[in-house]
Amino acid sequence: MTHSPVTQHSEVAAAIDALRQQLRYHNQRYYVFDDPDISDAAYDALFRQLQTLEAAHPELITRDSPTQRVGGEVQAGFSEIKHRLPMLSLGNVFNAAELTAFDQRCQRGLATVDLISYCAEPKLDGLAVSLIYQQGVLTMAATRGDGESGEDVTHNIRTIGAIPLALTLPDGGSAPELLEVRGEVFMDRSGFQQLNLQRQQQGEKRFVNPRNAAAGSLRQLDPAITATRPLRFYAYAVGAVSDTLTLPSSHYALLQWLRQWGLPVAAEISQVSGAAGCLAYFNQMQSRRNQLPFEIDGVVFKVDSLAAQQQLGFQARAPRWAIAHKFAAEEASTRVVAIDVQVGRTGTLTPVARLEPVYVGGVTVTNATLHNQDEVDRKDVRVGDTVVVRRAGDVIPEIVAVVLAARPHQTAPFRLPENCPVCGAVALRQPGEAALRCSGGLYCPAQRKEQIKHFASRRALDIEGLGDKLIEQLVDADLIHTPADLYGLSREQLLQLERMGEKSADNLLAALAQSRQTTLARFIYALGIREVGERTAQILADHFIHLEALQAADQEALQAVAEIGPVVAENIHTFFRQPHNQAVIAQLLDAAQSGIHWPTPSETRQEHLLLQGKTVVLTGTLQSMSRDTAKAALQALGAKVSGSVSAKTDYLVAGEAAGSKLTKAESLGVTIVDEAQLQQWLERA
Ligand code: IVH
Repeated sequence: MTHSPVTQHSEVAAAIDALRQQLRYHNQRYYVFDDPDISDAAYDALFRQLQTLEAAHPELITRDSPTQRVGGEVQAGFSEIKHRLPMLSLGNVFNAAELTAFDQRCQRGLATVDLISYCAEPKLDGLAVSLIYQQGVLTMAATRGDGESGEDVTHNIRTIGAIPLALTLPDGGSAPELLEVRGEVFMDRSGFQQLNLQRQQQGEKRFVNPRNAAAGSLRQLDPAITATRPLRFYAYAVGAVSDTLTLPSSHYALLQWLRQWGLPVAAEISQVSGAAGCLAYFNQMQSRRNQLPFEIDGVVFKVDSLAAQQQLGFQARAPRWAIAHKFAAEEASTRVVAIDVQVGRTGTLTPVARLEPVYVGGVTVTNATLHNQDEVDRKDVRVGDTVVVRRAGDVIPEIVAVVLAARPHQTAPFRLPENCPVCGAVALRQPGEAALRCSGGLYCPAQRKEQIKHFASRRALDIEGLGDKLIEQLVDADLIHTPADLYGLSREQLLQLERMGEKSADNLLAALAQSRQTTLARFIYALGIREVGERTAQILADHFIHLEALQAADQEALQAVAEIGPVVAENIHTFFRQPHNQAVIAQLLDAAQSGIHWPTPSETRQEHLLLQGKTVVLTGTLQSMSRDTAKAALQALGAKVSGSVSAKTDYLVAGEAAGSKLTKAESLGVTIVDEAQLQQWLERA
């Protein structure tokens, strides 16, 4: 078959055109809809076909061909571009009250009391760009700059795969004469990490955060470098458009409309209603924040109706119809005023940096733990240093880094002391451990205080009214040396203490008396054996049933218990072998002294538990024990303790001032028992 040169040429042109359209379609599926329908290899094959045809027919190459992303020469500099419409910034709010005030301003501006519909979007942490599409082809891209004019970054923007070089046209539709798209160029977490890893391996400086990495990558003079950077793009607005173009009537619909043109938009956008809807979105995004593949520093709310936006207009440099609701900053810098050494319950010496108060992650931070000497050495934190403090979510504040440029003269590296700062005993580092420990044991007042604090704490013996300060006072006044001494305190002794009134003294004595009735698990936990937390204590209690059995267990017997490893087994074994500990336990259990006790289920308890399978609800105030203790004791008798009364409830234990639960139980015919009956149950067990 012979072809005239003209037909042949137009056939090639048609083939090239078809390939470009296919590649654009697949790009859109990949970047915009996150739903590719061919493999990377198949995409590459199409791409190479196009490259081959274009190489044979260079006259058919156009600037918007998918092969033409990286081709630009190294630039001499960036030229300035004036924006057709100014690129505005956003006002900020930092809490619910400010957000509500924004919503009310919008209502007033629109003279309405109806709930306003908003488009809610993630606030991406990258940099704003403007993309100009003329006749559907990307012709110009600029940074925001000062809002009036920015830098021409067209060459670099072209290398970003997520940004279409040509718009996807609707079937049979034509391209708008002018469409300016605005959005954020950013780097996602995984791209950022990979880039930094690679830079580290090549001996280059790491980027501090994804935003700096994105900005640095876009400001390259050589587009070939930008092309290697994992940049992404999400559109969030339109700028100038030709008069003939009809836009959708809401911002949310506008963003969907941009997707149809091939522009990626964040999947997290949502339509919400009123201030309450905005706040719910904010909370949801805040809790999802760390799981998102990219960093955000807040959310943005925009009045959804474009007509309403017009009506509200602008004020100075920001629209009245949009607001950024920012998350509390997670990093801030402050100064180290001192480094103190704390002695923990098990004697661990912990260096703690005292900081000039700084608001970070939603709270004011004044301390940050430095963990141990290795950590201090690694970060080289010194007194007088300016440091970057980080508090993300609910995590404990930590010092991320020292700002070396701000280090004053004549500072010295910090070293933990060789002796315990409280008792003076030598501090030792066990082989294989990072911690330095005071060797003073319970002779060290600091360790004693911490141990008694632990013993009295809510999840241990739960001695109400015995706070940290009071324990310190009692130890310093030499009134108590061990937890057992607490039960020997007299009213007169308590009244000698500073700030101790008669009522507080009586309350404390009552709380001590009440704490005598506990559970085996709580008691084991209260002993403060190293690495025996609440859960392990419960496992031990369930397994050994009697304290004597646990005390007598050798390491082998301990390790036979599920979840108890060799280290914990050794800690437990060693603890019970110490004469001092044996003496304290004996005093604690001696009915004539402390008189601590707990219900002991009979050996055959599985079959004979008094309340096996019964559902019990507690209500009102109990005189002889706390609600937690009663709950644990009932559970030890086999009962299921529930928070609410229903037809399934077997017993309601009603203390003083019982309210609605009592009424409900009466109406349902549930058996009601008083505290005396509860006591009888516990005694019979
Ligand atoms: S709208 C007229 N939407 O935040 C409103 N901005 O503080 C123009 N940003 O310069 C901005 N995510 O770089 C808008 N979903 C979003 C955004 C967003 C991030 C950035 C943008 C802007 C800055 C304003």
